[in-house]
Amino acid sequence: MSAQGVDNKRRRVLVAATSVVGAVGIGYVAVPFIASMRPSARARAAGAPVEADIGQLEPGALLRVKWRGKPVWVVRRTEKMLAALPELDPLLTDPNSEASVQPEYCKNATRSIKPEFLVAVGICTHLGCAPTFRPEFAPADLGPEWKGGFFCPCHGSRFDLAARVFTGSPAPVNLVIPKHTYISDTTILIGEDGGAA
Ligand code: FES
Repeated sequence: MSAQGVDNKRRRVLVAATSVVGAVGIGYVAVPFIASMRPSARARAAGAPVEADIGQLEPGALLRVKWRGKPVWVVRRTEKMLAALPELDPLLTDPNSEASVQPEYCKNATRSIKPEFLVAVGICTHLGCAPTFRPEFAPADLGPEWKGGFFCPCHGSRFDLAARVFTGSPAPVNLVIPKHTYISDTTILIGEDGGAA
């Protein structure tokens, strides 16, 4: 055998040995990588739907629930509050929620499944502050036109009790309505679609 023939044979052996090491190496690397892609129980729980018990919620009151780290409000609107909503349409940026975020089954006059209950994400659509709940009618600081709603103290955005933003507010669109469904008369499941009840 020529010297070149010996060299070629040695090269083939070396290449084969390197390939085996490479394959084993990839095997060891791949296992922890795949394991790290599996969502942890904690991550799954963080995205899970949450139940809101509205059995004790008084008319006109607000319940706060945490879902995916965000505040979600449930407001039990009174007849008077509901009657005021259509009157506010001319004062709103997006009265029919065309440019706002809500499930299809809440794209209606009350932005809800049941008119009595508003479910909304309590984060201002301007820069993410937490608006305050102001259910009173015509309080001195908000003026005679105020018929209950949410006021964001950061830059003055105003929202009505269907979480719709008033024209002139820095917030460009209405508050977000999360997907939700009623699993009983007194329990709302927030974070899951169930269609209109
Ligand atoms: S963050 Fe609400 S008005 Fe600016």
